[in-house]
Formats: sequence, C-alpha cells, structure tokens
Amino acid sequence: MKYGIIGTGWIAESFIKGVRLKTDSVITAVYSRTEEKGGAFARKYNIPAVYTDLDAFAGGVFDAVYIASPNVLHYSHSMKMLEAGKHVLCEKPAGVNPDEIRMCIKTADEKNLIYAEAIMYMHSPVRNILRCALDNLGRISSARFDFTQLSSKYPAYLRGENPNIFNPALATGCFMDLGIYCVYPAVDLFGMPEKVEASSIFLDTGADCSGSAILNYGDKIISLTYSKIAQDYAGSFIYGDKGTIEIESISKLINISLIDNSGKKTCLRGEDSKEEIMGFEAESFESFAAGLRKEEYELLHRRMIEVGELMYKIRQISGIKFLKEN
Ligand SMILES: NC(=O)c1ccc[n+]([C@@H]2O[C@H](COP(=O)([O-])OP(=O)(O)OC[C@H]3O[C@@H](n4cnc5c(N)ncnc54)[C@H](OP(=O)(O)O)[C@@H]3O)[C@@H](O)[C@H]2O)c1
Repeated sequence: MKYGIIGTGWIAESFIKGVRLKTDSVITAVYSRTEEKGGAFARKYNIPAVYTDLDAFAGGVFDAVYIASPNVLHYSHSMKMLEAGKHVLCEKPAGVNPDEIRMCIKTADEKNLIYAEAIMYMHSPVRNILRCALDNLGRISSARFDFTQLSSKYPAYLRGENPNIFNPALATGCFMDLGIYCVYPAVDLFGMPEKVEASSIFLDTGADCSGSAILNYGDKIISLTYSKIAQDYAGSFIYGDKGTIEIESISKLINISLIDNSGKKTCLRGEDSKEEIMGFEAESFESFAAGLRKEEYELLHRRMIEVGELMYKIRQISGIKFLKEN
C-alpha cells in the first residue's frame, strides 16, 4: 500500500516506523503547513513528495492516508481524503462527536473505502488475550481503568505558553487524549453502561486536565480515571471473585498479568514496543483495505460509534466543551 501522511509530530514518526517494521508498504507523500517542517520530515524518512496545499496533497499518488493532525481537524481531513478516494486511518479520537464519526463511516461505505480509527486497543492482537482472560475471573464486579501520565507539555503551560494539547480550540485536553483509552476497553469488554457519572477539573485555558467517570452496569461498576498533570505507577485492574487482571498500560495493552486469589501472578503478555504496536495498527488497517476481516471491520465501526457516543455523554456531564459547542 502507498500512504500519504498528514501531520509531522512524533506519533506520525512512530507510525512510519511501525509501517516499515510490519508491512511492505511505502510512504509516498507528507502534508505539512510549512515547506520547512514538511521538507525536514520528508528528508528524515525518505519521503519523495511534500505538500503544503491540502487539495494538492489529496490528489497525490497514494491509496491511503494516515491522519495525525490536531483532533479538531480529524473530521474535515478525513472527509476531504475520503472524497478524494483515499482510504483513511485517522488518529484517535476519530471525531469530536459521534455524528462526525457516523458521517465519515457513511461516506467511506458509499465510496467503497476503508475508514478506521487508529486506536491501539482495537487493532492489537492482545485485545483477544484480554477478552479470553476474563473467563478466569469468575463474577466480575468492578474494574479500574487508569491513564494518568504527566504531560511533557505541562511545563510549557506552567511557563504561560499555550501548547496544543491544552488548547480547547483544537478539541484536545485530557479526556480526548487519554480518557479515550479507558473508554474503549470499558465499552468493548462490558458494553454500554446503564448510568454514567463523571467529573473533571480544568486549567485556566479551559482544557480539562484530570477527570473521572463511573460507569454503572447494574451488576458491576467500572471506574475510569485520567490525568495529564500527574503520573500513575499502579496501572489498571479488572476484579472478579476468582481473580484479578492487572494491566500496566491500558493504552498499549502491555505487561498484562492474571492474579489468582492465592496471589499467584501469571504473565499473559509482556511488552511490545511502540513501533510494533503502531505496526499492528497498520497491519490491521491494510487487511481491511484488502477486503479481509470484514466482521472485525464492522465491529470496529460499531465500537467507534459507541465510544464516540459515550465520550460525548461523559463530556456533557463533566462540562468539557470545545469552541462553538453550547
Ligand atoms: N496513538 C497514539 O499513541 C498517539 C500519541 C500521540 C498523539 N496521538 C494523536 O495524534 C494526533 C496528533 O497529535 P500530536 O500530539 O502530534 O498533535 P500536534 O503536535 O498538536 O499536531 C500534529 C501536527 O499537526 C500540525 N498542526 C499543529 N498545530 C496545528 C494547528 N493549529 N492547525 C493545523 N495543524 C496543526 C503540525 O504539523 P505541521 O506543522 O507539519 O503542519 C503537527 O505536527 C492527535 O489526534 C492525538 O490524539 C496519538
């Protein structure tokens, strides 16, 4: 497959490394707002074409685009690329609300193109290991999914700068950036909750920086915690009456163990590198584009919409708003 890339941040670099590690695909074009950044990126990764005009880029020689722009642009970038006949792999969150995701799915289906969210959880082979491991837990009564990671951009915020990740005009902030990694497994493993409570705290830019949601399923409570202004070392847990699953990183699904009620710990999965995990995404996306794994592709779309709906609900309850939203 030939890829075009939108965005020149570190995650786009990781994606390229993942593609090169796990597939035979090539990167043929990059879009950047500036010739300078686009050129430097293209030279570093040996990419033949650089565009600074999005319409011209949309006409470039590639089958698929990987979109790693700020969240607020995901919908317009995805739609423009689908309209141009390109398959789309868009970074999370695929849309700011579920309507944007639904519209992109509809457009892709009409054009017989693939549209997928680049969410590590859904493309990782470890997802199945985790799902199967639930059978060892007996009656599951609760889980705690946490993604608390001190942002490398927090010092810039403290210096009075306005980094993208804490700028609500770009639909960023903690919940959209980290909270989504807790919402995905909750929805995928347990479905949609009956009741939702949620709360967040905010920086003076208006961006949420820490928050929590409690998902009540009637027979179990799943709590989600997320923060960009603190660092977690404990991980995430799923609790049953016969055992516990411990997950070091809920986003990357690495270092997962089963702990029985005697305290004996069995490793279910060790550590995959970031490049390998991005490679899983590329492999999964390319299999969809090849017309394979149709059930998984339909499941991904269902999950993208469900997660989009639950994210929107949690945002409403927590008061997380972006520009132009009431
Ligand atoms: N899967 C993961 O593990 C992972 C990790 C990190 C981020 N992400 C996702 O990847 C996406 C990009 O994240 P990021 O941290 O790389 O974002 P970012 O640095 O804020 O922006 C990404 C790129 O978009 C362009 N850009 C920056 N500000 C812009 C603006 N105001 N208007 C238009 N374009 C702008 C820049 O490229 P040019 O200057 O070259 O145009 C930049 O390299 C986000 O959706 C995020 O959720 C995923």
